[in-house]
Amino acid sequence: MELCVIEGDGVGREVIPAALRVLRAVLPDVVVHNAHAGYDYFKTHGTPLPQETIDLALRYRAVLYGAADSPSFPVEGYYSPIIRLRRLLQTYASLRPTRYLPVATARTGVDLMVIRENTEDLYVVSEQTDESGHTSTAQKIITRGATERVSRLAYELARNEGREKVTIVHKANILPQSDGLFRRVALEIATEYPDVITDELLVDTAAYWMVKEPTRFDMILTSNMYGDILSDMAAAWGGGLGFVPALNLGDDAAIAEPVHGAAPDIAGKGIANPTAAILSMAMLLHHQWKLPELAQRIWDAVCVTLRHGDHTVDTFAEGAIGTEAFTDHVIANLI
Ligand code: NAI
Ligand code: MG
Repeated sequence: MELCVIEGDGVGREVIPAALRVLRAVLPDVVVHNAHAGYDYFKTHGTPLPQETIDLALRYRAVLYGAADSPSFPVEGYYSPIIRLRRLLQTYASLRPTRYLPVATARTGVDLMVIRENTEDLYVVSEQTDESGHTSTAQKIITRGATERVSRLAYELARNEGREKVTIVHKANILPQSDGLFRRVALEIATEYPDVITDELLVDTAAYWMVKEPTRFDMILTSNMYGDILSDMAAAWGGGLGFVPALNLGDDAAIAEPVHGAAPDIAGKGIANPTAAILSMAMLLHHQWKLPELAQRIWDAVCVTLRHGDHTVDTFAEGAIGTEAFTDHVIANLI
Protein backbone atom coordinates (compact mmCIF):
# COMPACT_ATOMS: atom_id res chain seq x y z
CA MET A 1 0.00 0.00 0.00
CA GLU A 2 1.26 3.49 -0.86
CA LEU A 3 0.03 6.69 0.69
CA CYS A 4 0.49 10.38 -0.08
CA VAL A 5 0.74 12.28 3.21
CA ILE A 6 0.11 16.02 3.55
CA GLU A 7 0.50 17.41 7.05
CA GLY A 8 -0.38 20.98 6.03
CA ASP A 9 -0.54 23.71 8.68
CA GLY A 10 -1.02 23.98 12.43
CA VAL A 11 -2.01 20.84 14.29
CA GLY A 12 -1.85 18.90 11.01
CA ARG A 13 1.88 18.65 11.73
CA GLU A 14 1.12 16.95 15.03
CA VAL A 15 -1.92 14.76 14.43
CA ILE A 16 -0.84 13.37 11.04
CA PRO A 17 2.49 11.94 12.30
CA ALA A 18 0.48 10.41 15.16
CA ALA A 19 -1.96 8.78 12.74
CA LEU A 20 0.99 7.49 10.70
CA ARG A 21 2.55 5.86 13.75
CA VAL A 22 -0.69 3.97 14.34
CA LEU A 23 -0.93 3.05 10.66
CA ARG A 24 2.62 1.66 10.66
CA ALA A 25 1.81 -0.38 13.74
CA VAL A 26 -0.98 -2.23 11.90
CA LEU A 27 0.50 -2.09 8.39
CA PRO A 28 4.31 -2.10 8.68
CA ASP A 29 4.87 -2.37 4.92
CA VAL A 30 3.02 0.82 4.03
CA VAL A 31 5.03 3.18 1.81
CA VAL A 32 4.62 6.86 2.66
CA HIS A 33 5.20 9.74 0.23
CA ASN A 34 5.37 13.08 2.01
CA ALA A 35 4.00 16.11 0.18
CA HIS A 36 3.47 19.82 0.86
CA ALA A 37 0.37 22.00 0.86
CA GLY A 38 -1.14 24.81 2.88
CA TYR A 39 -0.83 28.44 3.83
CA ASP A 40 2.69 28.32 5.25
CA TYR A 41 3.86 26.63 2.06
CA PHE A 42 2.06 29.31 0.05
CA LYS A 43 3.84 32.07 1.96
CA THR A 44 7.26 30.66 1.13
CA HIS A 45 6.61 29.16 -2.32
CA GLY A 46 3.75 31.19 -3.82
CA THR A 47 1.36 28.26 -4.28
CA PRO A 48 -0.78 26.40 -1.72
CA LEU A 49 -0.64 23.14 -3.69
CA PRO A 50 2.51 22.43 -5.72
CA GLN A 51 2.39 20.27 -8.81
CA GLU A 52 4.53 17.56 -7.12
CA THR A 53 1.83 17.15 -4.49
CA ILE A 54 -0.89 16.92 -7.11
CA ASP A 55 1.17 14.32 -9.01
CA LEU A 56 1.68 12.17 -5.90
CA ALA A 57 -1.99 12.38 -4.95
CA LEU A 58 -3.09 11.45 -8.46
CA ARG A 59 -0.57 8.60 -8.68
CA TYR A 60 -1.31 6.91 -5.35
CA ARG A 61 -4.99 7.90 -5.05
CA ALA A 62 -4.86 7.53 -1.27
CA VAL A 63 -4.12 10.67 0.72
CA LEU A 64 -3.86 11.41 4.43
CA TYR A 65 -4.40 15.14 4.87
CA GLY A 66 -4.08 17.28 8.01
CA ALA A 67 -5.43 20.80 7.62
CA ALA A 68 -4.61 24.11 6.00
CA ASP A 69 -5.09 27.59 7.40
CA SER A 70 -7.35 29.57 5.11
CA PRO A 71 -7.65 33.29 5.82
CA SER A 72 -11.18 34.71 5.86
CA PHE A 73 -10.24 37.48 3.42
CA PRO A 74 -9.07 37.27 -0.20
CA VAL A 75 -5.35 36.61 -0.66
CA GLU A 76 -4.06 36.90 -4.22
CA GLY A 77 -3.02 33.46 -5.48
CA TYR A 78 -4.28 31.53 -2.47
CA TYR A 79 -7.03 28.92 -2.51
CA SER A 80 -7.97 26.07 -0.20
CA PRO A 81 -5.80 23.09 -1.18
CA ILE A 82 -8.20 20.48 0.16
CA ILE A 83 -11.11 21.76 -1.90
CA ARG A 84 -8.89 21.60 -5.00
CA LEU A 85 -7.69 18.10 -4.10
CA ARG A 86 -11.21 16.80 -3.55
CA ARG A 87 -12.10 17.93 -7.05
CA LEU A 88 -8.87 16.73 -8.68
CA LEU A 89 -9.31 13.25 -7.23
CA GLN A 90 -13.07 13.34 -7.76
CA THR A 91 -13.69 12.29 -4.19
CA TYR A 92 -17.27 13.32 -4.63
CA ALA A 93 -18.61 12.26 -1.25
CA SER A 94 -17.44 13.18 2.22
CA LEU A 95 -18.30 10.54 4.82
CA ARG A 96 -18.53 12.07 8.26
CA PRO A 97 -19.56 9.59 10.92
CA THR A 98 -20.30 10.58 14.50
CA ARG A 99 -20.39 7.52 16.67
CA TYR A 100 -20.47 7.47 20.42
CA LEU A 101 -16.95 7.38 21.84
CA PRO A 102 -16.34 6.70 25.54
CA VAL A 103 -15.55 10.28 26.49
CA ALA A 104 -17.50 12.45 28.91
CA THR A 105 -18.27 15.04 26.24
CA ALA A 106 -19.92 12.56 23.83
CA ARG A 107 -23.64 11.84 23.73
CA THR A 108 -24.74 8.28 24.39
CA GLY A 109 -26.65 6.59 21.61
CA VAL A 110 -25.49 8.84 18.78
CA ASP A 111 -24.49 6.87 15.69
CA LEU A 112 -24.99 8.93 12.58
CA MET A 113 -23.21 9.62 9.34
CA VAL A 114 -23.37 12.80 7.31
CA ILE A 115 -22.78 12.22 3.60
CA ARG A 116 -21.81 15.53 2.08
CA GLU A 117 -21.59 16.21 -1.65
CA ASN A 118 -18.01 17.25 -2.11
CA THR A 119 -17.43 18.85 -5.51
CA GLU A 120 -19.94 21.61 -6.16
CA ASP A 121 -22.52 23.87 -4.48
CA LEU A 122 -20.99 27.12 -3.15
CA TYR A 123 -17.62 25.35 -2.93
CA VAL A 124 -16.95 25.89 -6.62
CA VAL A 125 -15.79 29.21 -5.14
CA SER A 126 -16.93 31.45 -7.93
CA GLU A 127 -17.37 34.86 -6.34
CA GLN A 128 -17.53 38.37 -7.70
CA THR A 129 -17.74 41.86 -6.32
CA ASP A 130 -19.06 44.65 -8.50
CA GLU A 131 -17.30 47.95 -9.17
CA SER A 132 -18.97 49.74 -6.29
CA GLY A 133 -17.49 47.18 -3.93
CA HIS A 134 -20.85 46.97 -2.19
CA THR A 135 -22.37 43.95 -3.88
CA SER A 136 -20.87 40.48 -3.98
CA THR A 137 -22.31 37.35 -5.51
CA ALA A 138 -21.36 33.71 -5.12
CA GLN A 139 -22.38 30.97 -7.48
CA LYS A 140 -24.10 27.88 -6.14
CA ILE A 141 -23.94 24.99 -8.56
CA ILE A 142 -26.01 21.84 -8.25
CA THR A 143 -25.97 19.26 -11.04
CA ARG A 144 -27.93 16.11 -11.68
CA GLY A 145 -24.72 14.12 -12.24
CA ALA A 146 -23.03 15.05 -8.96
CA THR A 147 -26.25 14.60 -6.99
CA GLU A 148 -26.88 11.19 -8.53
CA ARG A 149 -23.45 9.81 -7.76
CA VAL A 150 -23.34 11.04 -4.17
CA SER A 151 -26.89 9.79 -3.56
CA ARG A 152 -26.08 6.37 -4.96
CA LEU A 153 -22.92 6.14 -2.85
CA ALA A 154 -24.93 7.11 0.24
CA TYR A 155 -27.65 4.52 -0.35
CA GLU A 156 -25.14 1.77 -1.18
CA LEU A 157 -23.30 2.56 2.04
CA ALA A 158 -26.54 2.68 4.03
CA ARG A 159 -27.42 -0.74 2.69
CA ASN A 160 -23.94 -2.22 3.28
CA GLU A 161 -23.63 -0.81 6.77
CA GLY A 162 -27.14 -1.78 7.80
CA ARG A 163 -28.38 1.76 8.27
CA GLU A 164 -32.14 2.00 8.28
CA LYS A 165 -32.86 5.56 7.29
CA VAL A 166 -31.51 8.27 5.02
CA THR A 167 -32.63 11.85 5.68
CA ILE A 168 -32.24 14.11 2.65
CA VAL A 169 -31.47 17.66 3.82
CA HIS A 170 -32.01 20.75 1.63
CA LYS A 171 -33.63 24.18 1.54
CA ALA A 172 -35.81 23.63 -1.50
CA ASN A 173 -38.60 25.80 -0.11
CA ILE A 174 -36.40 28.88 -0.62
CA LEU A 175 -34.24 27.58 -3.50
CA PRO A 176 -36.65 25.44 -5.53
CA GLN A 177 -34.32 25.32 -8.53
CA SER A 178 -30.89 24.48 -7.12
CA ASP A 179 -31.87 22.76 -3.87
CA GLY A 180 -35.02 21.60 -5.63
CA LEU A 181 -32.85 19.72 -8.13
CA PHE A 182 -30.79 18.16 -5.34
CA ARG A 183 -33.96 17.08 -3.56
CA ARG A 184 -35.61 15.69 -6.69
CA VAL A 185 -32.60 13.67 -7.83
CA ALA A 186 -31.85 12.33 -4.34
CA LEU A 187 -35.48 11.23 -3.95
CA GLU A 188 -35.32 9.62 -7.39
CA ILE A 189 -32.27 7.53 -6.42
CA ALA A 190 -34.01 6.68 -3.14
CA THR A 191 -36.73 4.82 -5.05
CA GLU A 192 -34.04 2.32 -6.15
CA TYR A 193 -33.50 1.42 -2.48
CA PRO A 194 -36.94 0.56 -1.10
CA ASP A 195 -35.30 -1.40 1.74
CA VAL A 196 -33.90 1.86 3.18
CA ILE A 197 -36.33 4.36 4.74
CA THR A 198 -36.08 7.83 3.22
CA ASP A 199 -37.26 11.06 4.74
CA GLU A 200 -36.37 14.71 4.20
CA LEU A 201 -35.84 17.84 6.28
CA LEU A 202 -35.19 21.48 5.60
CA VAL A 203 -31.68 22.33 6.72
CA ASP A 204 -32.72 24.74 9.48
CA THR A 205 -35.04 22.12 10.96
CA ALA A 206 -32.28 19.54 10.63
CA ALA A 207 -29.99 21.85 12.62
CA TYR A 208 -32.66 22.13 15.31
CA TRP A 209 -33.01 18.36 15.60
CA MET A 210 -29.23 17.90 15.52
CA VAL A 211 -29.06 19.94 18.70
CA LYS A 212 -32.22 18.68 20.35
CA GLU A 213 -32.33 15.00 19.49
CA PRO A 214 -29.33 13.77 17.46
CA THR A 215 -30.29 10.13 17.98
CA ARG A 216 -33.17 10.58 15.52
CA PHE A 217 -30.60 10.68 12.68
CA ASP A 218 -29.10 7.64 11.02
CA MET A 219 -27.66 8.87 7.71
CA ILE A 220 -27.94 12.43 6.39
CA LEU A 221 -27.51 13.03 2.67
CA THR A 222 -26.95 16.66 1.79
CA SER A 223 -25.18 19.20 -0.38
CA ASN A 224 -21.72 20.60 0.29
CA MET A 225 -22.35 23.67 2.47
CA TYR A 226 -25.12 22.16 4.61
CA GLY A 227 -23.00 19.04 5.09
CA ASP A 228 -20.03 21.12 6.21
CA ILE A 229 -22.11 22.85 8.88
CA LEU A 230 -24.19 19.88 10.03
CA SER A 231 -21.14 17.62 10.36
CA ASP A 232 -19.40 20.14 12.62
CA MET A 233 -22.59 20.30 14.70
CA ALA A 234 -22.69 16.53 14.87
CA ALA A 235 -19.02 16.54 15.94
CA ALA A 236 -20.06 18.12 19.22
CA TRP A 237 -21.99 14.92 20.02
CA GLY A 238 -18.99 12.79 19.08
CA GLY A 239 -16.97 14.34 21.88
CA GLY A 240 -15.71 17.45 20.09
CA LEU A 241 -13.87 18.39 16.93
CA GLY A 242 -10.68 16.59 17.95
CA PHE A 243 -12.51 13.27 17.96
CA VAL A 244 -14.45 13.17 14.71
CA PRO A 245 -13.04 11.66 11.49
CA ALA A 246 -13.92 12.10 7.84
CA LEU A 247 -13.16 10.42 4.55
CA ASN A 248 -13.46 12.01 1.12
CA LEU A 249 -14.34 9.15 -1.18
CA GLY A 250 -14.74 8.67 -4.92
CA ASP A 251 -14.88 5.67 -7.22
CA ASP A 252 -11.11 5.16 -7.23
CA ALA A 253 -9.59 7.57 -4.70
CA ALA A 254 -9.85 8.63 -1.08
CA ILE A 255 -8.58 11.44 1.12
CA ALA A 256 -8.64 10.83 4.86
CA GLU A 257 -9.01 14.12 6.68
CA PRO A 258 -10.19 15.00 10.19
CA VAL A 259 -13.24 17.28 10.34
CA HIS A 260 -11.28 19.85 12.35
CA GLY A 261 -9.00 22.52 10.94
CA ALA A 262 -5.49 23.78 11.68
CA ALA A 263 -6.42 24.88 15.24
CA PRO A 264 -3.89 27.73 15.43
CA ASP A 265 -4.87 28.39 19.05
CA ILE A 266 -3.28 25.13 20.22
CA ALA A 267 -0.81 24.37 17.41
CA GLY A 268 2.81 23.67 18.29
CA LYS A 269 2.08 22.77 21.91
CA GLY A 270 1.92 19.00 21.51
CA ILE A 271 -1.58 18.87 23.00
CA ALA A 272 -3.70 18.33 19.87
CA ASN A 273 -6.05 15.39 20.06
CA PRO A 274 -4.97 12.90 17.36
CA THR A 275 -8.14 10.77 17.60
CA ALA A 276 -9.86 12.38 14.59
CA ALA A 277 -6.79 11.90 12.40
CA ILE A 278 -6.25 8.31 13.58
CA LEU A 279 -9.90 7.38 12.94
CA SER A 280 -9.83 9.13 9.53
CA MET A 281 -6.89 6.93 8.58
CA ALA A 282 -8.89 3.92 9.76
CA MET A 283 -11.73 4.95 7.44
CA LEU A 284 -9.30 5.00 4.51
CA LEU A 285 -8.12 1.50 5.44
CA HIS A 286 -11.72 0.35 5.48
CA HIS A 287 -13.21 1.99 2.41
CA GLN A 288 -10.30 2.55 0.02
CA TRP A 289 -7.91 -0.26 0.83
CA LYS A 290 -10.70 -2.67 1.77
CA LEU A 291 -9.01 -3.67 5.03
CA PRO A 292 -11.95 -3.36 7.44
CA GLU A 293 -10.40 -5.68 10.02
CA LEU A 294 -7.39 -3.37 10.41
CA ALA A 295 -9.72 -0.38 10.65
CA GLN A 296 -11.65 -2.15 13.40
CA ARG A 297 -8.45 -2.89 15.33
CA ILE A 298 -7.62 0.81 15.32
CA TRP A 299 -11.15 1.76 16.33
CA ASP A 300 -11.08 -0.74 19.22
CA ALA A 301 -7.66 0.47 20.42
CA VAL A 302 -8.85 4.10 20.40
CA CYS A 303 -11.98 3.15 22.36
CA VAL A 304 -9.98 1.22 24.97
CA THR A 305 -7.57 4.14 25.32
CA LEU A 306 -10.38 6.64 25.72
CA ARG A 307 -12.32 4.46 28.13
CA HIS A 308 -9.33 4.10 30.43
CA GLY A 309 -8.13 7.64 30.08
CA ASP A 310 -11.25 9.56 31.05
CA HIS A 311 -10.56 12.06 28.28
CA THR A 312 -12.61 15.03 27.29
CA VAL A 313 -11.93 17.86 24.93
CA ASP A 314 -10.51 19.60 27.99
CA THR A 315 -8.05 16.91 29.08
CA PHE A 316 -6.24 17.59 25.82
CA ALA A 317 -6.68 21.35 26.06
CA GLU A 318 -5.25 21.38 29.58
CA GLY A 319 -2.30 19.32 28.40
CA ALA A 320 -3.15 16.50 30.83
CA ILE A 321 -2.24 14.10 28.05
CA GLY A 322 -0.25 15.07 24.99
CA THR A 323 -0.56 13.96 21.39
CA GLU A 324 2.46 11.67 21.66
CA ALA A 325 1.53 10.03 24.94
CA PHE A 326 -2.01 9.38 23.79
CA THR A 327 -0.74 7.82 20.57
CA ASP A 328 1.63 5.59 22.58
CA HIS A 329 -1.39 4.32 24.51
CA VAL A 330 -3.38 3.65 21.33
CA ILE A 331 -0.48 1.64 19.87
CA ALA A 332 -0.04 -0.28 23.13
CA ASN A 333 -3.76 -1.08 23.10
CA LEU A 334 -3.75 -2.56 19.59
CA ILE A 335 -4.52 -6.25 19.72
P1 NAI B 1 -10.56 24.43 13.91
O1 NAI B 1 -11.25 23.14 13.66
O2 NAI B 1 -9.15 24.53 13.49
O3 NAI B 1 -10.62 24.74 15.50
C1 NAI B 1 -11.85 24.91 16.18
C2 NAI B 1 -11.65 24.64 17.69
O4 NAI B 1 -11.45 23.23 17.90
C3 NAI B 1 -10.41 25.33 18.25
O5 NAI B 1 -10.67 25.76 19.55
C4 NAI B 1 -9.38 24.23 18.27
O6 NAI B 1 -8.39 24.41 19.25
C5 NAI B 1 -10.21 22.98 18.53
N1 NAI B 1 -9.59 21.83 17.89
C6 NAI B 1 -9.55 21.57 16.55
N2 NAI B 1 -8.86 20.45 16.33
C7 NAI B 1 -8.46 19.99 17.54
C8 NAI B 1 -7.71 18.85 17.96
N3 NAI B 1 -7.22 17.95 17.10
N4 NAI B 1 -7.50 18.69 19.29
C9 NAI B 1 -7.98 19.56 20.18
N5 NAI B 1 -8.71 20.66 19.84
C10 NAI B 1 -8.93 20.86 18.54
O7 NAI B 1 -11.44 25.55 13.25
P2 NAI B 1 -11.18 27.13 13.14
O8 NAI B 1 -10.54 27.63 14.38
O9 NAI B 1 -12.47 27.68 12.72
O10 NAI B 1 -10.18 27.30 11.92
C11 NAI B 1 -8.77 27.44 12.09
C12 NAI B 1 -8.11 27.40 10.71
O11 NAI B 1 -8.27 26.11 10.15
C13 NAI B 1 -8.71 28.40 9.71
O12 NAI B 1 -7.66 28.96 8.98
C14 NAI B 1 -9.58 27.53 8.83
O13 NAI B 1 -9.69 28.02 7.53
C15 NAI B 1 -8.84 26.23 8.85
N6 NAI B 1 -9.69 25.06 8.59
C16 NAI B 1 -9.18 24.14 7.73
C17 NAI B 1 -9.87 23.00 7.44
C18 NAI B 1 -9.24 22.03 6.52
O14 NAI B 1 -8.10 22.22 6.10
N7 NAI B 1 -9.92 20.98 6.15
C19 NAI B 1 -11.19 22.73 8.05
C20 NAI B 1 -11.62 23.75 8.97
C21 NAI B 1 -10.89 24.88 9.22
MG1 MG C 1 -15.93 22.12 8.22
